[in-house]
Amino acid sequence: MRDVTDTREDRALDLDAEPDAASRRSDFLLPPAVGGEFPLTAYLAGNSLGLQPRATRAELMEDLDAWEQYGVHGHVDADRPWFPYHESLREPAARLVGAEPREVVMMNSLTVNLHLLLASFYRPTAIRHRIVIEDYAFSSDSYAVRSHVALRGYDPDTAVLRLRPRPGEDILRTEDVLKTLSDHAHSIATVMIGGVNYLTGEVMDMPAITAAGHEIGATVGWDLAHAAGNIPLRLHDWDVDFAAWCTYKYLNSGPGAVAGAFVHARHLDDESLHRLEGWWSTEPSTRFEMKPVSEPPGSADAWALSNPPIFAMGPVRTSLMMFDEVGMDALRGRSLRLTAYLRELLEALAERVDINVVTPADDDRHGAQLSVRVPVDVADLTERMSSNWGVVADDRQPDIIRLAPAPMYCTFHDCWRAVDALSQELTGEGIA
Ligand SMILES: Cc1ncc(COP(=O)(O)O)c(C=O)c1O
Repeated sequence: MRDVTDTREDRALDLDAEPDAASRRSDFLLPPAVGGEFPLTAYLAGNSLGLQPRATRAELMEDLDAWEQYGVHGHVDADRPWFPYHESLREPAARLVGAEPREVVMMNSLTVNLHLLLASFYRPTAIRHRIVIEDYAFSSDSYAVRSHVALRGYDPDTAVLRLRPRPGEDILRTEDVLKTLSDHAHSIATVMIGGVNYLTGEVMDMPAITAAGHEIGATVGWDLAHAAGNIPLRLHDWDVDFAAWCTYKYLNSGPGAVAGAFVHARHLDDESLHRLEGWWSTEPSTRFEMKPVSEPPGSADAWALSNPPIFAMGPVRTSLMMFDEVGMDALRGRSLRLTAYLRELLEALAERVDINVVTPADDDRHGAQLSVRVPVDVADLTERMSSNWGVVADDRQPDIIRLAPAPMYCTFHDCWRAVDALSQELTGEGIA
């Protein structure tokens, strides 16, 4: 029998009183609560949209000032010149995903990057033209792979292989993923899965699945929307072919912020690989030569198309600097402590009401998000958690609420408030 959980609010406050260098809460702007007794929200929706770092506004203003001061000459004369601006993001972004700097480029949005990468890495043939995704992939990924299959003249209904958990289970077992790959070894061209699933919060075994995909002759890419800035990644060492991620969730770069893309070093000089190109795909020194044929650099920049949106890149730069300062290992340590505490409280609540955490408990299999199945209307529940208790969570129909204590700005007390609000709404009593 497990020990009785200490569900008192004071315990959360005591845990918050312990110094932790990975907590940077005071560097963020927290939204005011719309309800409840606390002035600020307990914001557990950083897996959807991260909060604004205080530094972002000032840095953005500096970029605007440069535009005012230099006009077109800002491309070279601004303190952070625009022409090579995206290059300043390369190294911190590479550190974040475990890549060599030349393997990473920040550009576009997530789905656009997935399309650009699929254009190169999905190379279907009459026999081998399947793409594997999770059945509960984020809709955008499903639409993206279906459209690629159709674009190349195949039937998306048969060419997209969707991985399903076993009946009665919520998450994919790695052994089942590997079995599907080997069962369909000759027909699979590409595997493209979420590294951390948006719905269940499960972390996929990226090294094992990548290796298995390669063994059957497929290319393997990862959608890291819910993984970047959430869990440590080693894309280069895992031999991943390609990956893309957004920066507006755990990376706190603002709504629709510029995304990232990764292409493994071993593909960078492969002249047989086709890409969609634009003037940013050519070697910078040749950019203004206006030649009809590009001279792509031996880096992921060869996948870039357009001149980058500076005012959308500034917030990414600010955020990546914070991640560099804190370090992913320290952040992950804090994240595990927060989610362990959150899970403990949820399990205590589960003894009184019919809820269950669907996110795996094993630390290797979860990030900051815990997904909780609840027996009531989820949209109504999250609305009441906000308006009555000032807790911001989000919901996914039909029965999941997602709670993600992002470690940079969330506290143990935020976790306590979230479960207390849940308890109040589901049982009429608090958690303590
Ligand atoms: C897993 C996943 N994939 C794709 C997307 C789509 O992202 P975007 O609109 O930035 O292309 C999202 C958005 O939340 C997501 O969570």
